[in-house]
Amino acid sequence: MNKVALLGCGIVGGGVAAIMRDNAAYLEKSVGHPVELKYILEKRDCSGEPWADKVIGDFSVIENDPEISVVAECIGGVGVAYEFVKRALLAGKSVVTCNKQMIAERGLELLAIAKEKKVFLLFEASVGGGIPLLRPLTNCLSANRIEEVCGIVNGTTNYILTQMIQCGQDFDRALADAQKLGYAEADPTADVDGIDAMRKLCILVDLCFGSNLPPEKVPTEGIRGVTAEDAALAERLGYAIKLLAHARRLDGERFTAYVAPHLVARDNLLASVSGVMNAVAVRGNAVGETLFYGAGAGRMPTASAMVADILDTMRRGNGRKFIDWGPEQPERLVDPDAVPTRWFVRYSGGCVSAFSEDCISENGFCAAITPPMDRASLMAKLAGLEIESVFRVLD
Ligand code: HSE
Repeated sequence: MNKVALLGCGIVGGGVAAIMRDNAAYLEKSVGHPVELKYILEKRDCSGEPWADKVIGDFSVIENDPEISVVAECIGGVGVAYEFVKRALLAGKSVVTCNKQMIAERGLELLAIAKEKKVFLLFEASVGGGIPLLRPLTNCLSANRIEEVCGIVNGTTNYILTQMIQCGQDFDRALADAQKLGYAEADPTADVDGIDAMRKLCILVDLCFGSNLPPEKVPTEGIRGVTAEDAALAERLGYAIKLLAHARRLDGERFTAYVAPHLVARDNLLASVSGVMNAVAVRGNAVGETLFYGAGAGRMPTASAMVADILDTMRRGNGRKFIDWGPEQPERLVDPDAVPTRWFVRYSGGCVSAFSEDCISENGFCAAITPPMDRASLMAKLAGLEIESVFRVLD
């Protein structure tokens, strides 16, 4: 018992194997017995890798080995990863994963299986990479009704925006660097179009608000529409542009949840989160504001969270609290466009007098921060003008 099988040995999986080898003494001290990585399921040719002797190609070896108590999934997606995770749980093995797509789309079902089988499905690494976030949320903040969760949860887009704004790098070059550094998804459009952030938001909402939020229900906008002009004008108005995943209770049980670029005031801590770093602000009705900050992507930070989850399944045994959430409650979800907010607008064709307080006029364009209004009212005020950009302002 108490041996580990790793599914996939790419960027994050390689990090898990490296931590298990290099920090073996710390791991042993932490749980009171050696923590052995017995198998690595990998299709690639791994001869020459230091763990080549552990590589196998058949998942059923892991599934049928009673010595394996934990399976660490680093394959990604909801194809074979989902199939193997489900089989591992049904075989009575705990699973740890960094797979946000799988948890966002199938978490409800997989957690029910884990509960039924009295094993654990832990996914700390799925949101915020190496930042301790989900465990503090579900343990340390469990006395709270969570009112709001708002954060920078995609390292790739934060890296790209930072490089564009601070170093004048163009979008394609910044994205290529993020890929080289191992931050980006296999298909980086999931980063750039906000889908990765949206999946992470679903997991946060599931845990914070207690009912399943299906990914397809979350309005999602990425960073393709953010231009250097927008960033420069935002800067002059005293704001930074950040891709935020944001969910907020409105009244009692209803809430909004969406991903979009926002203008964030310079004195808000989220405005200073640069590069691949992530930060998530959580507001509870008892604790007030909290902020979790750290490396949101990359091999070792993500692997760090996964190995901690491996240890947790061993250390806490069956005394551990099961994480779960309830089925979807569609009536709770409110369209964010219907909720009044301030907006940043850049447009041409004349300035709207209602926006004059916070307005810059330059090269034929007007850039303004509007008073709070819903999107339909904003569009009515801009009728007949040529709209270049519309972003929310974080209030
Ligand atoms: N592509 C993701 C990011 C990896 O850039 O944040 C971590 O989930």
